[in-house]
Amino acid sequence: KTTLRSAQWFGNADKNGFMYRSWMKNQGIPDHEFQGKPIIGICNTWSELTPCNAHFRKIAEHVKRGVYEAGGFPVEFPVFSNGESNLRPTAMLTRNLASMDVEEAIRGNPVDAVVLLTGCDKTTPALLMGAASCDVPAIVVTGGPMLNGKHHGRDIGAGTIVWQMHEAYKGGLIDLNEFLSAEAGMSRSAGTCNTMGTASTMACMAEALGTSLPHNAAIPAVDSRRYVLAHLSGMRIVDMVHEDLRLSKILTKQAFENAIRVNAAIGGSTNAVIHLKAIAGRMGVELDLDDWTRVGRGTPTIVDLQPSGRFLMEEFYYSGGLPAVIRRMGEANLLPNPDALTANGKSLWENCADAPIYGKDEVIRTLDNPIRQDGGICVLRGNLAPKGAVLKPSAATAELMQHRGRAVVFEDLEDYKARIVDPDL
Ligand code: FES
Repeated sequence: KTTLRSAQWFGNADKNGFMYRSWMKNQGIPDHEFQGKPIIGICNTWSELTPCNAHFRKIAEHVKRGVYEAGGFPVEFPVFSNGESNLRPTAMLTRNLASMDVEEAIRGNPVDAVVLLTGCDKTTPALLMGAASCDVPAIVVTGGPMLNGKHHGRDIGAGTIVWQMHEAYKGGLIDLNEFLSAEAGMSRSAGTCNTMGTASTMACMAEALGTSLPHNAAIPAVDSRRYVLAHLSGMRIVDMVHEDLRLSKILTKQAFENAIRVNAAIGGSTNAVIHLKAIAGRMGVELDLDDWTRVGRGTPTIVDLQPSGRFLMEEFYYSGGLPAVIRRMGEANLLPNPDALTANGKSLWENCADAPIYGKDEVIRTLDNPIRQDGGICVLRGNLAPKGAVLKPSAATAELMQHRGRAVVFEDLEDYKARIVDPDL
């Protein structure tokens, strides 16, 4: 590629070129940085109000090292950071706002490509949506999951234990001190929720779609290999500029079909439906609810992680991570499009065909011993949900799969809270 997008700003010896370069030079940037180097935007959702992303400044530093090493020039910029735990009324209401922020930040600035630093649930789809709308080369680096939670001698999962313990407290099985004592043990390192909740799911989806380097999804946030991956991603994005490897070459219908199938195998969150659909929409790829049934239903869930199963993201990484899952799927002809292109220039299957699988097939199970044979997302239709609703069979009890009974309608959330503990109900 001969003409860089950033050259429209920095490449001219005229009044405008003077202005664009001059103000940038107030940061101490030497002239040679503007002489045809790919300008790599580092799109950072760092925020101390998004605790899952609060360690991103350090990750950004490692991305920069990689960009410099490969001959690019990194520029870091902030975007709206919508953290799941603090933001009211719900981070979901600002996913699209964040995606617009990202889109306009990329479109309006002199960047040739972007590294997307994402973590907490909505930040991954939001940044992918914004970058997809601009169709620039982009690579996702997630912040990685927290270490396993520890409480009174057992492992506890962020994002699930709070509900379980609160139920136990309300039911009188534990007292208030016991309940509150789990707070610090649940969140004992930087990173995102360590269950297969939405953050881990979307990190897996970014990897399955081909928008990140292999292993990005599972390396723990505080594992030094997370910083190595950030460094390598910084190097790789510079090459992606030279190869003109834009998101439209990666985010194809085939990539989304792979992601749907992978989501079934990992027991991923139902929120993946909402987010993949939105990312596909930005790319002009048709993806609807029926695709989840057509492609995903019947895929065995082989990753034994909470909330569907027993383990947490740390064990998932130590067992081989997502490449190991994709290898198992591919060997059983369960990968719909193994030739789909990924960010490192190789196909998904090339990246995973020889992936090592560690342990005793407990965390990443074999296909003949899944935690659920008919995994995937169940699309429900009926008079309660005429446009469709989704359910994750791997996290549901068998009784929930077929049920006939009276419906209880609550007036509002307060009514629900007051009545749900009423034994008469
Ligand atoms: Fe941020 Fe769970 S609250 S990942």
